[in-house]
Amino acid sequence: MNQMMPRPNTRLTARPIGLTMGAEVTGIPVNGDVSPELLTDFVSILHRYRVLVMPELDLDPADLVAFSRRFGPLEIHSRFENTLPSNRHIFCVGNVARDGMKASFNKGVEQWHADSSYRETPSDASLFHGEIVPPEGADTLFADATAAWRTLDPAMRDRIEGLIAVHSLETLRRWGARHDPNRGPNVDRQAAKFPPVRQPLVRVHPATGSKSLNICPAVISHIEGMDEADSAALIETLIAHTTQSRFVYCHRWRKGDLVMWDNRAVLHTASLFDHTRYQRLMYRTTVAGNAPLLSA
Ligand code: OGA
Ligand code: MN
Repeated sequence: MNQMMPRPNTRLTARPIGLTMGAEVTGIPVNGDVSPELLTDFVSILHRYRVLVMPELDLDPADLVAFSRRFGPLEIHSRFENTLPSNRHIFCVGNVARDGMKASFNKGVEQWHADSSYRETPSDASLFHGEIVPPEGADTLFADATAAWRTLDPAMRDRIEGLIAVHSLETLRRWGARHDPNRGPNVDRQAAKFPPVRQPLVRVHPATGSKSLNICPAVISHIEGMDEADSAALIETLIAHTTQSRFVYCHRWRKGDLVMWDNRAVLHTASLFDHTRYQRLMYRTTVAGNAPLLSA
């Protein structure tokens, strides 16, 4: 899987970079005009590869937001204080504060998740742009939750298909407090706006029909019908399966890289960096979900 694959009738090329997912895409004019045909082709590459890397792009916030909007309405992040004052659709991640902007900095590590799973309708996809990138550390890891489902033991598949997990910002707040006692209580203020939601443990991608494991250990309070200890043990087993190195792509950032991932098909996590020595600043946009995962 590693020769260049030209796409017919377009200038897009997708070069696979991971074992089961991930491609580097060139030829998409992110800060210019993307024709509807090119966009369609790009979306089909996203569905096929799940994580797309567009190397070293010079993008300003308006470019990032305009491109992201082509995929659907954007979320405004629940941690409003970490959004960019000049463009609230951008969520800032890192250890930088300037011009009235304070990025969201989390010292906890290995928190596998899909973005905004605590919303009734979780995000479809996220785009992440490297503004200030430390020379080492702060890789973003992606795990192929789709391949993980496909390779799961049939008895385990039978056991978990149909289970419902409760995703809760309060659970995430407690996880954050355990890992970083200095982290502010701002998630608290969101609790009323984002009450716990029920999400299927195995989700079906609406475009591809592929199933994937929808597991966010720091966000899931429990699985319905199971106590907390049994829920945690099951989730731990599923995370261990999903995050085997054969399913993981590790992105080592260069300044300007834009990475887009399909939250409906992969999990991801940040990794540590030496925040006492280096600066990091990333801009994220979050494409809102189209439909709740469970019918009412
Ligand atoms: C995110 C996220 C990973 C990272 O912003 O959604 O999970 O490497 N970031 O910071
Ligand atoms: Mn995330």
